[in-house]
Amino acid sequence: MHILLKSLVIALILKEIPCKKCYVFYYKDVSYAVGLPEYLNYTVTVVNKSSLNAELYVLKPIADPYWKIEMHSRIRNTDIIFYNKTTRYCDFGRLAQHNTIFKNMLLTFRETTNLDFKCPVCKCHYFIRNLYFQADSLPLGPAFSAKDGFQVIVTTYIKEQRKLKEIGSIRFLLSVEKFC
Ligand SMILES: *[C@@H]1O[C@H](CO)[C@@H](O)[C@H](O)[C@H]1NC(C)=O
Ligand SMILES: *[C@@H]1O[C@H](CO)[C@@H](O)[C@H](O)[C@H]1NC(C)=O
Ligand SMILES: *[C@@H]1O[C@H](CO)[C@@H](O)[C@H](O)[C@H]1NC(C)=O
Repeated sequence: MHILLKSLVIALILKEIPCKKCYVFYYKDVSYAVGLPEYLNYTVTVVNKSSLNAELYVLKPIADPYWKIEMHSRIRNTDIIFYNKTTRYCDFGRLAQHNTIFKNMLLTFRETTNLDFKCPVCKCHYFIRNLYFQADSLPLGPAFSAKDGFQVIVTTYIKEQRKLKEIGSIRFLLSVEKFC
């Protein structure tokens, strides 16, 4: 009886422990545009729903690019904004020390791309191979229940005469899928 009770309790506890690494982002839709083709060209492909490949050619060195990252999702008719900021691209490593979303993104990037977040950005060929996000590694809990998914828009800019000029942008529509 005692043993039975014990195993019942253990079974209940196990059921209660949130299953780690069970949620994965699926790329439902990806679209991208190049604003200044003299600076770059790129192609993006989604491989089996959850991983992303990209080829990026920087055709001219870029001294100090900026990027705006917008992450939001509509939950129960309300637009929830998780992040919406323009920062220097080469500040990413520094920001990642203080921001959990960026920290986890940086860890994932290190394994999947040769982007190094260093300035000036050289005239180089960059790639992303099998970029795959474990949704539960990011503090985006509320997005898990969003029926229409989670949108991420990344826009890159150069600064000319104190104005930001768009070089290119990419828009992802992600859904959160549970695996276990
Ligand atoms: C992008 O630029 C590179 C280098 O100039 C070139 O080899 C490649 O064909 C271009 N790709 C596209 C999709 O335009
Ligand atoms: C996607 O492809 C990888 C390797 O190519 C494979 O290990 C993985 O199981 C695939 N995932 C799905 C959801 O099909
Ligand atoms: C982010 O902020 C800008 C203005 O600062 C606004 O135009 C844009 O709509 C915001 N993005 C989202 C997803 O709400």
